[in-house]
Amino acid sequence: MAIKPLIDASRIAQRVIELAHEITHDYLGKELVIVPVLKGSYVFAADLVRHIDLDLSVDFLGVRSYGDAQESSGVVEISTDLSHPIEGKHVILVEDIVDTGLTASYLNQNLITRRPASLKLASLLHKPSRTRKTVEIDYLGFTVDDVFVVGYGLDHAEKFRNLPYLAVITDEPSS
Ligand code: IMP
Repeated sequence: MAIKPLIDASRIAQRVIELAHEITHDYLGKELVIVPVLKGSYVFAADLVRHIDLDLSVDFLGVRSYGDAQESSGVVEISTDLSHPIEGKHVILVEDIVDTGLTASYLNQNLITRRPASLKLASLLHKPSRTRKTVEIDYLGFTVDDVFVVGYGLDHAEKFRNLPYLAVITDEPSS
């Protein structure tokens, strides 16, 4: 197994700033709650919020998805719930990657029952070739092919989250 760089740190930083500026513009004068989905989105969310020039709060959602390391089964469970109600608040759910779309779709359905004023989705990555459930991504970083991506918070068996850039895992032996 080897890792091959996919998107470098400066390109990520530039795109994150663009998304943060868009969000700042869209939510002027509104009370915003940023909800990063743990663990994969923690790096993206940490960078994103630091460029959003608004009063906001951050609350985390932990999810557990059953399946093997590289394949989501579609059975999603909330392992750590939000610490505050979101009723009447403007919420942006922050994902690392929308792969099959099953997790984001499940979380959308769950959060909407809590009656937020609005609910949008930000995702660093999208793998459209793997879609099983279509979800609208309001703030998207990058579209990627059907490859397994690690780094910048994304893991493979809990490793590589600390890479400052995005990389692809390949079957080639590492040199
Ligand atoms: P879903 O298939 O859209 O439900 O994606 C569920 C979760 O699987 C994502 O939030 C990621 O944590 C993980 N995942 C999917 N594809 C990748 C990948 O390429 N690298 C790392 N994690 C991934």
